[in-house]
Amino acid sequence: MRRDAGPFAPPSEITRLRAERPVSPMLFPDGHEGWLVTGYEAVRQMMADTRFSSRQDLGIIHVPYETPGMPVQTEPSPQTPGLFVAMDPPDHTRLRRKLTGAFTVRRMQLLEEQIVEIVERQLDHLARLTPPVDLVQEFALPVPSLVICELLGVPYEDRATFQVNSAKFLEKDITLEEKIGAYGAMSGYLAELVTRKRAEPGEDILSDLARHDDLGIEELTGIAFLLLLAGHETTANMLALGTFALLENPAQLAELRADPELMPNAVEELMRYLSVADIFYRYASEDLELGGEKIAKGSTVVVSLLAANRDPERFEHPDELDVHRKARGHLSFGHGVHQCLGQQLARIEMRAGFGGLLRRFPSLALAVPAAEVRLRTDMNIYGVHALPVTWTQGSVH
Ligand code: HEM
Repeated sequence: MRRDAGPFAPPSEITRLRAERPVSPMLFPDGHEGWLVTGYEAVRQMMADTRFSSRQDLGIIHVPYETPGMPVQTEPSPQTPGLFVAMDPPDHTRLRRKLTGAFTVRRMQLLEEQIVEIVERQLDHLARLTPPVDLVQEFALPVPSLVICELLGVPYEDRATFQVNSAKFLEKDITLEEKIGAYGAMSGYLAELVTRKRAEPGEDILSDLARHDDLGIEELTGIAFLLLLAGHETTANMLALGTFALLENPAQLAELRADPELMPNAVEELMRYLSVADIFYRYASEDLELGGEKIAKGSTVVVSLLAANRDPERFEHPDELDVHRKARGHLSFGHGVHQCLGQQLARIEMRAGFGGLLRRFPSLALAVPAAEVRLRTDMNIYGVHALPVTWTQGSVH
C-alpha cells in the first residue's frame, strides 16, 4: 500500500475507510473478495481471536494475492515446518513455548549491556566516517543484524547470504519462483548451521533449541529463518525511519535531547506513529462477526496496524508525533498469541540506538532535502532505502 499523505502518514484512502467503515469489504488484485480492517478496536479484537487463522502457505515469505502466480487461499494449507508465525494453536503454542524462556524481559535485561556495547561500537564506526553517510548501511541495519547474529549464534561474516535473500521476501514485486529460490538459499544455509549446532552446541539460542530432541532439522531451520528475518529487518527500519521522523520534528527532537529519560516513552510513540510492520493477513476459519460485519468462512482478512495506531477514536491527535504521549497500547508489535516475541529485545535496541545517536551526534541532520529520501513503498516492511545524514565534524562525542 502506498503512503500518499507524506512519508509517515497512512494513505488517505485508508483513513477515509477507517472513518466510514472500519471493517470494509475489499477486492484483491486477482478479483477475490475479502475484508480490510482499519479501526483500532476491530483490529485488536481480530488479532486476539485465533478463529482468524494465521495459517498461510509458505507463511511469512509471501503476501497472498500480491505475488503473481500465487493461488487463492481459502482453506488451511500445508505448513512450512518451524514457521510458527504462520501457524495456529496448538502447533503454534508447541513451538513458541520453546522460545519464550530465551526472550523474557529478564533474559533481555541481562543482555542489555552486551547490546549497548554493540550499539556503541557501531557508533564509534560511524564517528570515524566522513559525512555525508547513509545511516541505513552504516548504523540502522548493522546494529540489529549484529545483535540477532550474536543471540542466535549465526556468523555475522555470512550476512551476504542472508541479508540479500531475506530482503527479497519483503519485496512486493517479486515472482513466486524468485521467493521460493530465496527461501531455498536461506534454508540451505540455515539447515547446515543448525545441523552443526546439533552436533556441537554452543552458547546461543539456536544451540539451545538444537538440544531439544523433539525438534527436527527442518523445524529448527524454519525457526532460525523466522528469527533471523524478524530480528533485523523490522528494527533496522524503525531505527532509520525513526531518525528521519525525529529530524523532521525538531521541537520533539529538542525535547528528547533535553530529557533523555523520555526515551522509553519516545520509542513507544515512534513505534505507534511509524508502524513499520503495517499489513498482516488472516483468514476466517468459520463464519464470524467483526465490527458489526458478517465475515464468511474462508474470507481473507487484511489488517492495517498503521491505520489502527492512527485511529482518532483511540489516540488524540493521532497524526502528531508526541514524545510525551502514553502510547503503550499501540498495536505495532501485534496482539494476541502472535504478539511479537522479540519486543523486549527490539525496545532495548531502539532505546540504545536512538539514545546513543542523539547523545553522540548533537548536530545530526539530513544531508538531502526530505523529499529526496527514498521510501520503501515497494517493500512489505516500511522504512527508507537509504538515509543520507551529515553532522559537523568535531562535534561528535
Ligand atoms: C511477531 C513486529 C522486532 C521476532 C511480530 C508481529 C509484529 C511484529 C506486528 C505479529 C505478527 C502477526 O501477528 O502475524 C515487530 C516490530 C519489530 C519487531 C515492529 C521491531 C521494531 C522483532 C525482533 C525479533 C522478532 C527483534 C527477534 C527475534 C518475532 C517473532 C514473531 C514476531 C518470532 C512471531 C511470533 C509468533 O507468531 O508467535 N513482530 N517485531 N521481532 N516477531 Fe517481531
